[in-house]
Amino acid sequence: MTILHIDSSITGENSVSRIVSQAIIDRLAEAQPGIPVIRRDLASAPLPHLTLDALGDTSVLDEFLAADTVVIGAPMYNFTLPSQLKAWIDRIVVAGKTFRYTAEGPEGLAKGKRVIVALARGGFYSDEARIALEHLESYLRSVFAFIGIEAEFVMADGVSIGPEQRQAAIDQALGQTRQLAA
Ligand SMILES: Cc1cc2nc3c(=O)[nH]c(=O)nc-3n(C[C@H](O)[C@H](O)[C@H](O)COP(=O)(O)O)c2cc1C
Repeated sequence: MTILHIDSSITGENSVSRIVSQAIIDRLAEAQPGIPVIRRDLASAPLPHLTLDALGDTSVLDEFLAADTVVIGAPMYNFTLPSQLKAWIDRIVVAGKTFRYTAEGPEGLAKGKRVIVALARGGFYSDEARIALEHLESYLRSVFAFIGIEAEFVMADGVSIGPEQRQAAIDQALGQTRQLAA
């Protein structure tokens, strides 16, 4: 059993998604003491954009496939995911490895893995006027579903509205981590 811990926020210690993703890791480690945690920080060690030459390097895919649980810190930048995280997604969504096309349509091949996303967004995206701008949660939900995984989400929303809302969002998200099934 292995956990893969991914972060992608560029804001270091001030990062809400990092605080929440670490809390999720702590919760999982509490439930399974001694479980190995593999760390991949996409801000301090960014992956280059995917290129034709890079297609043959399966090290990031292999690391993903070897993990039973994957915890991802995902901040919203310009209504979607950081390009650092997109570069990682580009390496794990691979035909013949994590999905395949069949006569009945696409089939996810990464079934059985648990993915938990710590999402941090500056605003709120639940009302109809703003939902069309939301391309982070919707994208990650869809891309993991495509490879056969129903991702779980812990949300910290409205963190740019002011310090009180930021703290309330963090507290709420940390409370949610305690509700996660072991
Ligand atoms: C470059 C940049 C772009 C951002 N774009 C958005 C945005 O489009 N929508 C939004 O609601 N918040 C936006 N924010 C606010 C972040 O989503 C918010 O600060 C969140 O906490 C980021 O996660 P982090 O704290 O883990 O870095 C942006 C922040 C940065 C630094």
